[in-house]
Amino acid sequence: MRMYDLIEKKKMGKRLSDEEISFIIENYTKGEIPDYQMSALLMAIYFQGMDKEETLALTMAMRDSGEVLDLSGIHGVKVDKHSTGGVGDKTSLALTPIVAACGVPVAKMSGRGLGHTGGTIDKLECFPGFTTEISDETFIKNVNEIGIAIAGQTANLAPADKKLYALRDVTATVNQISLIASSIMSKKLASGSDAIVLDVKTGNGAFMKTMEDSVALAKEMVSIGHLAGKQIVAYITEMDQPLGNAVGNSVEVAEAIETLKGNGPKDFTELVYALASEMLQFGGVCDTPEKARAKISEVIENGKALEKLAEFVRAQGGDDYFVFHPEEFPKTAYTREVPSPSDGYVKRILAEDIGIACMTLGGGRETKESEIDLSVGILLKEKIGAKVQKGDTLAVIYGNDKEKMDKVYEMIQNAYEFDDNEVGIPCVIKERISPEQ
Ligand code: URA
Repeated sequence: MRMYDLIEKKKMGKRLSDEEISFIIENYTKGEIPDYQMSALLMAIYFQGMDKEETLALTMAMRDSGEVLDLSGIHGVKVDKHSTGGVGDKTSLALTPIVAACGVPVAKMSGRGLGHTGGTIDKLECFPGFTTEISDETFIKNVNEIGIAIAGQTANLAPADKKLYALRDVTATVNQISLIASSIMSKKLASGSDAIVLDVKTGNGAFMKTMEDSVALAKEMVSIGHLAGKQIVAYITEMDQPLGNAVGNSVEVAEAIETLKGNGPKDFTELVYALASEMLQFGGVCDTPEKARAKISEVIENGKALEKLAEFVRAQGGDDYFVFHPEEFPKTAYTREVPSPSDGYVKRILAEDIGIACMTLGGGRETKESEIDLSVGILLKEKIGAKVQKGDTLAVIYGNDKEKMDKVYEMIQNAYEFDDNEVGIPCVIKERISPEQ
């Protein structure tokens, strides 16, 4: 087999066989296919696309390029959740302790934030001492003993994807549905869970900006998971404004804690209930959405969900004091209110701009090496549908650097769009996609 012939084949719009795709991934991972040939193939895929079988073969080849975790030592149905990334997305922080408190084991791999979206690991590190660098043995022991563990992605998990993603990033080939779906699913399948709940964000702050693209990506991922023998469902969720009110690390953790106490923002709470309900049904703990919702309410009201978060934080070396006293997270030196520049109804809040504002304050990474400030952030006081008058506070900035705060002040004000006519409050959940559809 020659890489040249395979590039030519895809360029002409023909399909690649499973053997050809395995050959490409295996040899690219080993360094035997150079980046320039792989770049040409990626561009051919970008324009010619891949069918379902090719996408599945690519996913499986990338999954098998490294270690596939064996979670058979964990009792029960292991359910994972993945979000395509959004602004203010602190879902895993509230969702995983709820699910674990309901008796479904959570064995999760998470990442750090990059660019305008945050990452679960950074947020968890708001608890002093907390680490996701735990051995496979500790990971499995913690899930068996307390029902929950979250680890960072090891270097040997789908290494082909790591190499390919870096190449796509510099060759303008990230935005292709088969490539995105296989990239995400190769890592999910290598993580070893039995069931997967996907949260595909849609809107200006998301990777996928339109409903059409988001649905296509969700369908592709659900199809891959189903063909790989996993229980799987996807939700398309709102990202035409940040999720919840808090954007930043410790402010998001505090909001997740409030949600675990039953006092979270409505949109965020709704999303957590929907995803947790699917996880409980996959886990076999409840057989209807109604029973799942009742069980979720029960662990929130009786404090077991919050206690589970504390137990999880302690088990991974963190100080659980802040679970019960989030108001004592280190404070920023300054706060500044952002007033509304006009009267009207909030129509849209450019989530990406809010994410970039948070990154500018120091709360996110511009490059993988950037150090982040966990204390800075933005608290949105008004969201889509709110009626505001000129001068009303739209948001509060928490910062440690006045110059940076000046910069983001205007960014936040400009991120708000208004309408003279009444605007309805959008539903956070846009669509549910299952293999049966
Ligand atoms: N996230 C991934 O892991 N891969 C992609 O291709 C896009 C987003």
